[in-house]
Amino acid sequence: MSAKNDPGYSDDLYVADIFLDLLEATRDGFKKDPMKLQGSETIMQPKTSQQSGVCSTSTDEVDSPLSINFKPIQKYLGDLSCSTECRNSIFQTCGQKEPIPIRLITHPLNKLRKIGEGAFGEVYAGQFNRNTVSRIFKIVAIEGKKFVNDQKQRKFKEIQPEIVICQELNKLRTGYNGCFTDGFVNLHNARICRGKYPKKLMDAWKNFKNHSGCENTKPDYPYNQLYAVFEHEFCGINVCMSHFKDHRQSLSIILQVAHALAAAEVACEFEHRDLHWGNVLIQETVNIYNVFTITGKFYRVPCCGLTSTIIDFSNSRITVDGNKIVFCDLANDDEQFIEGPDKVQFDVYKRMKRMTRNKWDKYTPKSNVVWIHYLTTKFLEDVSYTDIGLEENKNGN
Ligand SMILES: Nc1ncnc2c1ncn2[C@@H]1O[C@H](COP(=O)(O)OP(=O)(O)O)[C@@H](O)[C@H]1O
Ligand SMILES: [Mg+2]
Repeated sequence: MSAKNDPGYSDDLYVADIFLDLLEATRDGFKKDPMKLQGSETIMQPKTSQQSGVCSTSTDEVDSPLSINFKPIQKYLGDLSCSTECRNSIFQTCGQKEPIPIRLITHPLNKLRKIGEGAFGEVYAGQFNRNTVSRIFKIVAIEGKKFVNDQKQRKFKEIQPEIVICQELNKLRTGYNGCFTDGFVNLHNARICRGKYPKKLMDAWKNFKNHSGCENTKPDYPYNQLYAVFEHEFCGINVCMSHFKDHRQSLSIILQVAHALAAAEVACEFEHRDLHWGNVLIQETVNIYNVFTITGKFYRVPCCGLTSTIIDFSNSRITVDGNKIVFCDLANDDEQFIEGPDKVQFDVYKRMKRMTRNKWDKYTPKSNVVWIHYLTTKFLEDVSYTDIGLEENKNGN
């Protein structure tokens, strides 16, 4: 793998390396007859009924290879400290001069409903007029004084890496540095908005609270509140809320995630750093294979009825244009490293802290491998399967 010839390559484990044998083995799909795999017609059943319009997944093949050219690192985007500088820089990143009134974003949307939440963000789905496909809006309050879920709001310089990383990963969807994958969520727009929380959003928020329960702070912000608004395509239901048919489906998801990570490692030294099962989305597909290009080589993974999409780059790290490191600095983030409700997940954060020696700019791709290990454990121990009992009975186990 050419990354090995680059200065700075360490003998750490790369997903791209670790899975190399597996990738070669799966280049032509599983050994089994692909039509039989298609015939497994297993379909993931969401545990909730929140799913709406589902975008189809394309398996377009891409031309390859493009050459990889890693340059020495010159600049650190994570250094920005001056507020005005950060402000100008983030507006430039989003292609704006000033904040957009948030109601201009929500006004044209129909059937707006909240579909998810995270530590900082509220996530809504809505449809533009006459369009039946849902768009996803992740809305994160920034720069304000009001605490969000008992935490300080993130600053411009803390949210900017997530925006830049989303934009960079978008490039993999058309081919970048010899790699292709559509396994990362598609970003349509990232915007900085301003204003009181629109009534449409607040109604959707209350509706979610009444029906699904809600752990987040009510988004009751003043008129001058700023927000980062990520507009994505709808990518399904997270693994945590999904049922799977059998282990072939979980193996397929693990392989799809591993291939996507391998492509992003090779193309832009990407580490996700928060790949828990709420950040992997699953949706049904009729495609037999999901396709990837890694270092100019074409791979395909049998879908077994499902495709995966990786979301949420709020902890991630990437190298842009071969010379700018963009990362979330977790060095002083004590929250992340305390004990959490899910021991396996919170052990990974501590492990990452040891691996990086708390220097989060450094490329430590082993973190991706550790998250794959975590996902495998989740698929073995916590995910529920509809057909496992039947299979085990058949085998007399
Ligand atoms: N593109 C999407 N399609 C479908 N659901 C999504 C999408 N993005 C986010 N979600 C839902 O919202 C939840 C939180 O989103 P996430 O981006 O992880 O926010 P946070 O950074 O606050 O954790 C996810 O677990 C998922 O249920
Ligand atoms: Mg998340």
